[in-house]
Amino acid sequence: MERPFPTVAVVGLGTMGAGVAVAVARSGRRVIGVEAGPTQAVRALARIEASTARAVARERLTAEERTALLALIEVGDDLAAAAQADLVIEEVPEDLELKRGLFAELDRICPPETVLATGTTALSVTRIAAATARPERVLGVHFFNPVHSMKLVEVVRTVLTSPQAAEQVAELARDLGKEPVAAGDRAGFIANGLLFAYLNQAAAMFESRYATREDIDAAMRLGCGLPMGPLALLDLIGVDTARTVLEAMYEQSKDRLHAPAPILGQLVAAGLLGRKSGRGFYTYEAPGSSTPVVEEAAAAEARPAGREVRSVGVCGSGTMATGIVEVFAKAGLPVLLAARSQEKAERAKAQLAKSLERSVAKGRLTEQARDAALALVTPTGGYQDLADVDLVVEAVAEDLAVKRELFTALDRIVKPGAVLATTTSSLPVISCATATSRPQDVIGMHFFNPAPAMKLVEVVSTVLTAEDVTATVLELCAKVRKHPVECGDRAGFIVNALLFPYLNDAVRMLAEHYATVDDIDTAMKLGCGYPMGPFELLDVVGLDVSLTIEKVLHQEFREPGLAAAPLLEHLVAAGCLGRKTGRGFRDHARR
Ligand SMILES: NC(=O)c1ccc[n+]([C@@H]2O[C@H](COP(=O)([O-])OP(=O)(O)OC[C@H]3O[C@@H](n4cnc5c(N)ncnc54)[C@H](O)[C@@H]3O)[C@@H](O)[C@H]2O)c1
Repeated sequence: MERPFPTVAVVGLGTMGAGVAVAVARSGRRVIGVEAGPTQAVRALARIEASTARAVARERLTAEERTALLALIEVGDDLAAAAQADLVIEEVPEDLELKRGLFAELDRICPPETVLATGTTALSVTRIAAATARPERVLGVHFFNPVHSMKLVEVVRTVLTSPQAAEQVAELARDLGKEPVAAGDRAGFIANGLLFAYLNQAAAMFESRYATREDIDAAMRLGCGLPMGPLALLDLIGVDTARTVLEAMYEQSKDRLHAPAPILGQLVAAGLLGRKSGRGFYTYEAPGSSTPVVEEAAAAEARPAGREVRSVGVCGSGTMATGIVEVFAKAGLPVLLAARSQEKAERAKAQLAKSLERSVAKGRLTEQARDAALALVTPTGGYQDLADVDLVVEAVAEDLAVKRELFTALDRIVKPGAVLATTTSSLPVISCATATSRPQDVIGMHFFNPAPAMKLVEVVSTVLTAEDVTATVLELCAKVRKHPVECGDRAGFIVNALLFPYLNDAVRMLAEHYATVDDIDTAMKLGCGYPMGPFELLDVVGLDVSLTIEKVLHQEFREPGLAAAPLLEHLVAAGCLGRKTGRGFRDHARR
């Protein structure tokens, strides 16, 4: 294809427009920048000069490249200059009437073949296109902030946009070193459409005081590998912006999960818009600062001291049990590894030995540390030997009857005062607790897989858990170098309750043919910095496991938007469970 759009006009040179102008000029194209007035134009040029100077200082750009690209950019305040461009990219503030007025004027000024693109995040591209007499040459081009480092560009087609115009703009994006994905005209497009519903749920979770803001953020960073926690991200995006995007999404979807959480409205009304105003969910050192002020946690001080834990028991012989044994042993705690038979316990210890061996091979563990850890682990076939341990973690099958039976047995065997923990991810902790005569000593310790590598532990207290039991587990987590977050005993705890609705939304988006598996995965990785796209993650976790968790969440909250996507049920029924069966959302067998 011929190199598209040799001359590009950028209207509005604020945060986004200035970034887009530089990216386009870097590709060797001429850029006509248009601002609202002469002062704004001077300021915009200064902004571009300063940002490119920073790029030179950071060695992202050479001084010669900077000079060359600045020579390609002219900035003025006369919209008529846009008539010389092959493509106009609009990046003015997010206001429908402002954008429609601008497009009507551009339509009069520019030759009929000029393509007009809007940078809107949440407004209807179709309504903007309707202000012109050339809707087939109007589309959305959604860059991400900061433009120089974010690779994603969503190319948004309305029902009237010509495929050629969209392809040319995608080609331009590739030419700028970006990765374009195709999206239809719906609020939030792909990346924000999936991101904002999740941010909204996190805000609602905070508002209901289910967990603290620090714990919600830590849970998503450490449990899912996300670059930022949701509440810190809301502060970065701007609480007002987030609320506007959610309003637009709700307007179209009527899905209550998109209705902005009341807390967002309260923060906006109070002028607490996030980092830019110095306070939002967090308080920052100053407006515009990214450093939050650390506030003392009063609750932690009021808590009683924990019980002493000198030895632990782990019930089970599977992946989680073995991983948890490794965590304890490496931290120097004697561990009884209790399985249903001596043979199973021995096999689990052999598994553990292999895992430690791999750490030694990778240079992460010394041979002495390996031997010391292994010497602390005693395999045993049966639970009788657990009588004297101070804390037991149960990691047997995810089946309530099995777990309750085990807790009843532990209640008979283990000494009074010991802490009994379950590592369940989807069953109520209280149902384990009531299988004993000492529910105050029972708590959830939700480790993540692989336990030795994943830093997070969700510490789940039931309505009956004693405060010193919670304190014991928090102290133990610190001792074994895990990051504990505290939450109540409800479905999904923090991580799964925020993660699985998002995965479900992605499946629905796919089922609606809004975007492809590859485009959705790309959008989340490149637009939001996620380590994996939703379909990659679903295939790794297992579609059956995901469906079970989604059903538990729906059963708990009865929120219509949480009902498992029919496509997920169909794939599970068809035996497409993800990597483990060779096929899920992708075909892994053929790779
Ligand atoms: N900031 C983000 O993270 C982000 C990310 C993706 C998309 N967007 C979208 O990009 C667009 C621009 O957002 P922004 O964050 O760059 O806003 P901004 O406020 O930083 O910049 C807007 C610029 O437009 C100028 N302007 C206003 N009226 C104008 C007119 N009539 N003619 C020419 N210039 C005019 C203003 O002077 C200002 O410099 C919005 O639609 C926004 O939703 C923003």
